[in-house]
Amino acid sequence: MPAEPSADEASLRTELGRQPNKSLLRFLTCGSVDDGKSTLIGRLLYDTKLIFEDQLAALERDSHRYGTTGDDIDFALLIDGLEAEREQGITIDVAYRYFATAARKFIVADTPGHEQYTRNMATGASTADVAVLLVDARKGVLTQTRRHSFIASLLGIRHVVLAINKIDLMDYSRSRFDEIVEDFNAIGAEMRFESVVPIPMSARHGDNVTARSTHMPWYDGPTLLEHLERIDVEEDLAAAPFRLPVQYVNRPNLDFRGFAGAVAAGTVKTGDTVAVALSGKTSRVKAIFTPQGEATEAEAGEAVTLQLEDEIDVSRGSMLVAPQTRPHVADQFAAEMIWFDDHHLLPGRSYILRTETQQVNATVTDLKFKTNVDTMAHEAAKALEINEIGTCTLSTQTEIAFDSYGFNRSTGSFVLIDRMTNATAGAGLFRYPLRRSANVRWQALEMDRAARAEIKHQKPGVIWLTGLSGSGKSTIANLLDKQLYAQGHHTYVLDGDNVRHGLNRDLGFTEADRVENIRRVAEVAALMADAGLLVIVSFISPFEAERRMARERLPAGDFVEVFVDAPIEECVRRDPKGLYARAQRGEIANFTGIDSPYEAPENAEIHLQTKGTSPEASVEFLIQWLRDNRFM
Ligand code: ADX
Repeated sequence: MPAEPSADEASLRTELGRQPNKSLLRFLTCGSVDDGKSTLIGRLLYDTKLIFEDQLAALERDSHRYGTTGDDIDFALLIDGLEAEREQGITIDVAYRYFATAARKFIVADTPGHEQYTRNMATGASTADVAVLLVDARKGVLTQTRRHSFIASLLGIRHVVLAINKIDLMDYSRSRFDEIVEDFNAIGAEMRFESVVPIPMSARHGDNVTARSTHMPWYDGPTLLEHLERIDVEEDLAAAPFRLPVQYVNRPNLDFRGFAGAVAAGTVKTGDTVAVALSGKTSRVKAIFTPQGEATEAEAGEAVTLQLEDEIDVSRGSMLVAPQTRPHVADQFAAEMIWFDDHHLLPGRSYILRTETQQVNATVTDLKFKTNVDTMAHEAAKALEINEIGTCTLSTQTEIAFDSYGFNRSTGSFVLIDRMTNATAGAGLFRYPLRRSANVRWQALEMDRAARAEIKHQKPGVIWLTGLSGSGKSTIANLLDKQLYAQGHHTYVLDGDNVRHGLNRDLGFTEADRVENIRRVAEVAALMADAGLLVIVSFISPFEAERRMARERLPAGDFVEVFVDAPIEECVRRDPKGLYARAQRGEIANFTGIDSPYEAPENAEIHLQTKGTSPEASVEFLIQWLRDNRFM
């Protein structure tokens, strides 16, 4: 997933640099603490001697004191101890640990399970070659095993180790082992892994982790470490078409302009023609610089700075690519979304979409279905909740360049960021572009907004009234409309109750439906403003995100947000439609202010307090404001 490398990662890279000639295997462990995950990782680190002497002494001491393993060393204490240390600093959800043997270097991503398991797995799995799925031999294949496998396969992990742990507690039983393998194969078949290697083990006693067990003569497969040392995961990234996401433009003086980044795929040589992904403009590679000095060639995984022969428009955020096999360039596409946030993914809501190089506004235009990870069934959904996985189409404000995830994991993935909290709310895997908008051209019309406004002697715009039910929106909208009309202006009122009888009659009051309600009204209001009208919108519009979207749909200055404010007690007292009383009796669900939230505007142009102010006085104030701001 596109993210800043953590301090953890950076120190690992330095560490790895010291052993340049060995191949590197990245793997991920999945399972809960109860399955023995900490013990397994502790055992691997201990047996490969990565634990420092002082840590080891402390470990032996603590094992006697707190341990659950008698005189043996409790490896789980080691890992959990490291975790506590980590928690004192910034919490890093995925811990990367490094170890090496004579044959290979390893990075293990330890992804804590529990509530946030999808977030942690998506972070760890997006770069992993192998997933080690832990299964407690006593419990067998659980729902959790199925979930972890599905996410691993979704994220492109092709090799799985089924670590059947605690086999000692099942008397090293071969039939138990066979039974679990069979259960797993039934689900694993759906997931298209290239290899699944089951290993019976006891992480606690060390059987088949790094040393061969003497308790299971029936097992003639490899130990976990042997398997990890030997497995061939080469995915010939260097043979794929060239991709260089440009991280920054290096311009030390006027004569030099270099484009720096890590090669995501393919190979580049001096003299090669490269293209800018979005524009298609091409140039030739004049020089290649690497941390080791100037080179004539560089391949996937290497950090480079490229100098080109021509002055073409390349900036931070561009991608340099092989000209014959450019990535997709589109503003609509299909994708798989994995949702991490407590706040649901809502189609129609605007998020920030970030790829390795680009950042644009985006919305989910259609949530096709979510996949039930327990049954693999496709289920209809209006929103995605935390840990849910859905297949959807998205639309971005401007075109972006991307590959499908199957083609390249780094140029094929993105994250969605919540615009209000700035949290990374979900991860996405690009599937394929949709060419809809490419075939529907924007029709240039000769009669434009200015011409239409001119004839009406007004500056068109949208006056957006937001507030609780009963706050006075409709009354004010109605009065404002009447007065503007009397003064010869061209207006129209869009009122929630009315629009919900026609255009939006299919929508209710769930969060997802309200988002769609406001999206449609914002569109209609913008079209009407384009037609030269002064549009008065009167909708509760409880969410800041959608009000912001409505604002951004119009040219700056044409959107006037009016917070029609009255304390909830006052609205309940007024209760013009008797709805608060019904909501309080539990007859109406999701009623704004009762059991559905209202996010009060913070940057409204106008704030009207309607308690103690007459509607006439509010409207007079509004009209004066519109005059002062040259709407009329
Ligand atoms: S919005 O939240 O999606 O913007 P909108 O303004 O369209 O709401 O509709 C609000 C009107 O619907 C209210 O004035 C009220 O008459 C009616 N209504 C019915 N059920 C609800 C509800 N659960 N919450 C709020 N308003 C409701």
